[in-house]
Amino acid sequence: MVTGSFMVSAQRVREGSTEGSIAIAAATRADLDAVAQLELLAFADPWTRQAFEAALNERHARFRVAHARDGGVVGYLIAWFVLDEAEIANLAVVPTVRRHGVARALLEAIIAEARASRVARLFLEVRDSNAAARALYASMGFVPIARRPRYYRKPVEDAIVLRLEL
Ligand SMILES: CC(C)(COP(=O)(O)OP(=O)(O)OC[C@H]1O[C@@H](n2cnc3c(N)ncnc32)[C@H](O)[C@@H]1OP(=O)(O)O)[C@@H](O)C(=O)NCCC(=O)NCCS
Repeated sequence: MVTGSFMVSAQRVREGSTEGSIAIAAATRADLDAVAQLELLAFADPWTRQAFEAALNERHARFRVAHARDGGVVGYLIAWFVLDEAEIANLAVVPTVRRHGVARALLEAIIAEARASRVARLFLEVRDSNAAARALYASMGFVPIARRPRYYRKPVEDAIVLRLEL
């Protein structure tokens, strides 16, 4: 578990209010409005605010947010940790600060937590056409292991299942 927050070296996070650094912390109720708004910007088939609220209280969930220096939410990640396996269920970054290392920082934080919890492997699903996310995951060592035909809605599309051995 994350105790408190820790700062990420983020000389790469330079745009707008994220100048200087971001902090990654466990999400709280205070983050829910911003997270739900970002979800609407990021996905055609978004999670509801209630789904995020449930993740705050779900014992298997690891719900992490990246805050800019001014406290604004610039990204979030939700993972499920069950025994020695984990799954990344959701990840998004504010459009105006993409390509500045926020998603990588969130993933590095959850990978460190997973290792500390003796998680052996991490899974996720990604849309076949999501080139940005696929490049991100490939750069972090995830490898494709399966295709789930017509897994997504709005629009219907295959999912690629990726795995990272820790
Ligand atoms: C995918 C997403 C989370 C990436 O967030 P981000 O903060 O912009 O990613 P980072 O800046 O940490 O990128 C790290 C690396 O991933 C790769 N990458 C990220 N976005 C990319 C893009 N648009 N094109 C190509 N490579 C990309 C690059 O290798 C990048 O490193 P580099 O910038 O040094 O070249 C973001 O684009 C997003 O929120 N998309 C909409 C929601 C989504 O698709 N979530 C994932 C669902 S599985």
